[in-house]
Amino acid sequence: MTAVHLQGEVWMGSAPLIRNLSLHFPAGRWSCLLGPSGVGKSTVARLIAGLPGPYRMNGVVAAEDSLPLHGRVAMLAQLAQLLPWADLVQNVTIGARLRGARPDVARALALLENVGLAGVERRRPDALSGGQRQRVALARVLIEDCPVVVLDEPFSALDTVTRLAMQDLAARLLRGRTVILITHDPLEAIRLSDVAWLLDPDGTEALTLPAAPTPRDFSAPETLAAQARLLALLHARTLSPDPKDLCDAPH
Ligand SMILES: Nc1ncnc2c1ncn2[C@@H]1O[C@H](COP(=O)(O)OP(=O)(O)OP(=O)(O)O)[C@@H](O)[C@H]1O
Ligand SMILES: [Mg+2]
Repeated sequence: MTAVHLQGEVWMGSAPLIRNLSLHFPAGRWSCLLGPSGVGKSTVARLIAGLPGPYRMNGVVAAEDSLPLHGRVAMLAQLAQLLPWADLVQNVTIGARLRGARPDVARALALLENVGLAGVERRRPDALSGGQRQRVALARVLIEDCPVVVLDEPFSALDTVTRLAMQDLAARLLRGRTVILITHDPLEAIRLSDVAWLLDPDGTEALTLPAAPTPRDFSAPETLAAQARLLALLHARTLSPDPKDLCDAPH
C-alpha cells in the first residue's frame, strides 16, 4: 500500500496557483479533495499522476515508501472520454494498446462483468447510458491495477440516484487502494472519505468526518448533518475566500 504526500507550492505558468500546499493521502484509504472551481484540484491530480502541463511544483510530490510514483497511479480524468469508434473491451484495454503491450481481453471482460456490463462488451460507448459509460471508465482504471487511483469528478454528470450506486460500486471495487477523489458534491465527499481536504489558494485544510465506516449511509443523520456542515463551509468559502471571515460560518 502506498501513501502519497505533496508539500510546497504550485505555479501555473508564471503565477502562483496554490501556496503552502500540504496534503497527505493515507495508504489504502479514500481521501477527498474539495475546493472552488479553478483552485487547482485537477492540477493536483495531474501532478500526482505525473502528467505534463503548464504547471510546476516547487516542492515534493512523493510516495511515502520512497519508491517512484511513476507507473503506480491510475487516473480517471475529469470529463473522461471513451473512444467512440471502439467497443467496450477495446476501450478498457486502451492503456495496454497505447503502451504496445498485449491487451488482456479476458481481464477486461471480467472487469466489465464486475461493473455490471456483462452482455454489452462489444457495444460502442454511444449505445450506453451516461452511468454505463462511467462504469466503463472505472473498469479502464481497474485494469491498470495500480495501488494509487485518482478520480477527478468521476460521477459529476450522473443523476443523484445513479451517483449513489456508482459510489457504492467504486467503494467496493477500489477497497484497499489509496484513492484520491476530487468532487464538488458534499454528500459524495462525506459518504466516501476517510480523510477530506479543502483546497484554497493559500493552502489546505483537513476536514472532520463522521466516525462511521465508508461508504456511509446517505440517509443516516450523521451523514446528513456532516453534509450540511460541509455545504455551509463551501458556501462560505465561495462567498468569502478569506479564511479570517469564516469565524461566523455555521458549524
Ligand atoms: N492548460 C492550462 N493553461 C493555463 N492555465 C490553466 C491550464 N489548465 C488549467 N489552468 C488554470 O489553472 C487553474 C486551476 O485549474 P484546475 O483545472 O486545476 O482547477 P480545478 O480546481 O480542477 O477546477 P474545477 O473544479 O472547475 O475542475 C485555473 O485557473 C485554470 O484556468
Ligand atoms: Mg477540475
